[in-house]
Amino acid sequence: MSDADALVTAGKQLLLNNYRQAPVVMSRGEGCVLWDTTGRRYLDMTAGVAVCVLGHGDPGLAHTVGEQARRLVHSSNLYYVENQIRLADALVRRGFAGRAFFCNSGAEANEAALKLARRYQVTTQNRPARIEIVAFENSFHGRTIGSLSVTGQAKYRDGFGPLFGPVKFIPFGVAEAVRANVTDKTCAVIIEPVQAEGGIFLPPPGFLQELRRRCSETGTVLIFDEVQTGVGRTGTFYGFEKEGVVPDVITLAKGLGGGVPIGAMLANEEVGRAFEPGTHGSTFGGNPFATAAALYVQEAIDRMGLLERCREAGAYLGNALTRMAERRRPRTRGARGRGLLQGLVLDGDATPVVNAARERGLLVSVVGGNVIRFAPALIISKTEIDEAVHILEGVLSDG
Ligand SMILES: Cc1ncc(COP(=O)(O)O)c(C=O)c1O
Repeated sequence: MSDADALVTAGKQLLLNNYRQAPVVMSRGEGCVLWDTTGRRYLDMTAGVAVCVLGHGDPGLAHTVGEQARRLVHSSNLYYVENQIRLADALVRRGFAGRAFFCNSGAEANEAALKLARRYQVTTQNRPARIEIVAFENSFHGRTIGSLSVTGQAKYRDGFGPLFGPVKFIPFGVAEAVRANVTDKTCAVIIEPVQAEGGIFLPPPGFLQELRRRCSETGTVLIFDEVQTGVGRTGTFYGFEKEGVVPDVITLAKGLGGGVPIGAMLANEEVGRAFEPGTHGSTFGGNPFATAAALYVQEAIDRMGLLERCREAGAYLGNALTRMAERRRPRTRGARGRGLLQGLVLDGDATPVVNAARERGLLVSVVGGNVIRFAPALIISKTEIDEAVHILEGVLSDG
């Protein structure tokens, strides 16, 4: 048995069986390329599920975390953390007036947002009955009980009830549903500016503006889950910038640390004041190590012009996928996305295609059952995009 086979066998015995994992063990990466333990090369259009925005093996990130680890990995939130303050400043300067709380993942950031919204309505505003959350069908917000409770897909929720509530799910992109269901009894609305895990659905023009208007009218806290759309993924630093609306609360994770685990919740002054000393916390949240990585990512995004590169590469990829979808009908139904969050829509289950692509050295992933997601590093080149599209088209034309 090769080392990789032995590892996979041991993994099957020793790890809980909660992931659907390919029998591959990744060993190292450089830019948009990964190598497994057998030395096979893969062109990586997943970036660790929309995480490694700078690609793999970025020397500056490696240097920064190495230096920081030598100086101080962790000191706790009993004391101020310099990098945390600098990171909060950087995130606010990106165009959101407010304050930051740091944690370790997207689900945890959403938990913080839900707790903040409830405390704001019930305690700060003294409206004890105002506890209902409005969320969207087909959404994804994470796997903890709170974030799962606002996730509008049965496949993630089944078997875990009773969940946190009350939560009302309404259709994504339907303005009348917003007007009918967001009322002066709603605590908060949580929404992804682009539904990612659900299958890469963009909101219709003006929908998020209507949602913003309705939340303001009714005193409802508007939470944008930017865990996947944030940190440049859709071509602007925050996904909301494209829509001309500003939410009350934003959650971030994934790309924020370039692969080092870190999440954040940002809240405007008004809503943010609901957290007082002792009301919320996280042992590891915003520690010197994770925030050093995130600060490096912030600096690299500007120095390398990654927002502009994302817009250009995203348009190139989107066009290439649209043309391929035309050529490969009826197996494909089209392409959609924004920036470097793009999907090729198939006429059936995308899993066999994704598996066949991996066999040919291309890593992509499935969202929404029939959509192939492309979420590469923001440094992806046109040559690499061409290679990815070529491999995928080969799979589609053979299979
Ligand atoms: C929009 C969105 N929110 C939340 C999450 C959960 O993030 P995490 O896995 O870091 O808890 C994800 C993960 O895919 C996501 O896409």
